Amino acid sequence: MRFGSGSGFVRRCGGSGWVGEGSAAMDASDVRQASRAVWEAMARGWEERHTYFEVAARPVTETMLDHGRPQPGQTVLDLAAGTGVVGLAAASHIGPDGRAIVSDFVPEMVEVARRNAQMLGMDNVDCRVLDAEDLALDDDVVDVVLCRWGYMLMPDAEAALAESRRVLRSGGRLACAVFAGPNENPWAALPMQVLVERGHVSPPQPGTPGTLALGDHGQLDALLTGAGFGAVDIEEVAFSWPFGDGDDYWRFLTEASGAVAITIEGLAEDERQRVREDLLARLGPYETTEGIELPAVAVVAAAG
Ligand SMILES: C[S@@+](CC[C@H](N)C(=O)[O-])C[C@H]1O[C@@H](n2cnc3c(N)ncnc32)[C@H](O)[C@@H]1O
Repeated sequence: MRFGSGSGFVRRCGGSGWVGEGSAAMDASDVRQASRAVWEAMARGWEERHTYFEVAARPVTETMLDHGRPQPGQTVLDLAAGTGVVGLAAASHIGPDGRAIVSDFVPEMVEVARRNAQMLGMDNVDCRVLDAEDLALDDDVVDVVLCRWGYMLMPDAEAALAESRRVLRSGGRLACAVFAGPNENPWAALPMQVLVERGHVSPPQPGTPGTLALGDHGQLDALLTGAGFGAVDIEEVAFSWPFGDGDDYWRFLTEASGAVAITIEGLAEDERQRVREDLLARLGPYETTEGIELPAVAVVAAAG
């Protein structure tokens, strides 16, 4: 899918990365609509990288499952699940009598998750189109809610968290992950820096959704508490994104990085090449004998 002028698109979205972001110029429903279109366009790139996302970010999945503690026979809900990495991992903890609802608001992502569940032969998994901000589920029907890298992209994260709380049974647990700040996540911060410096996007605005929008522990704690959760545990999980070389990282950005991908796609060919060169020239500190390894830090929050 093409969006015409990608820079205009992300400028309107406030653009800071894996996205669906907001700016003062867009209301929440515009942001939601733009975010659906972005993620629909990313479904193919994410399908191709399902195993990559599973392996590289396994420490994040494992920390979430340690906190969420899914048990045999329970119902687990994975929100904003993309290709289903976390929900499918949880499904292996709940046995044949449990049920994992693997959900996303983009039907194309849900189809990918469904194919992945089928390939794994998992028949305790339901893949469903669900909007985390307005869940089409009854109250008190889920034992564990999981959401990796979803809430920070939503225009009303507190409403989404309140929805998560509503569908949880008494005694149920939430385990979610967002990203820490730009210093800890150069994989996301560097492309934004280049796009901002070259005038293609505005700097991310505080209070608008975005990849690095919810990394502050106090803010995250306040959001969960405000949504009705009890004591919140927060921990940081470091991992890294390995790439064979600069071209491999560039493909990741242009095929899987949400609004950044759409922005790059919308640039004129010569400017796209200049952005690429400018960005790749900044990767020196991350070169290894194997290629490039870009650090990442997730923030995992858990509460009941
Ligand atoms: C960065 S991806 C994360 C995918 C997956 N959780 C993972 O960790 O591999 C973000 C996902 O959030 C989904 N998403 C964004 N806003 C959503 C919403 N309001 N409800 C459900 N899904 C949403 C997007 O469609 C996209 O698949």
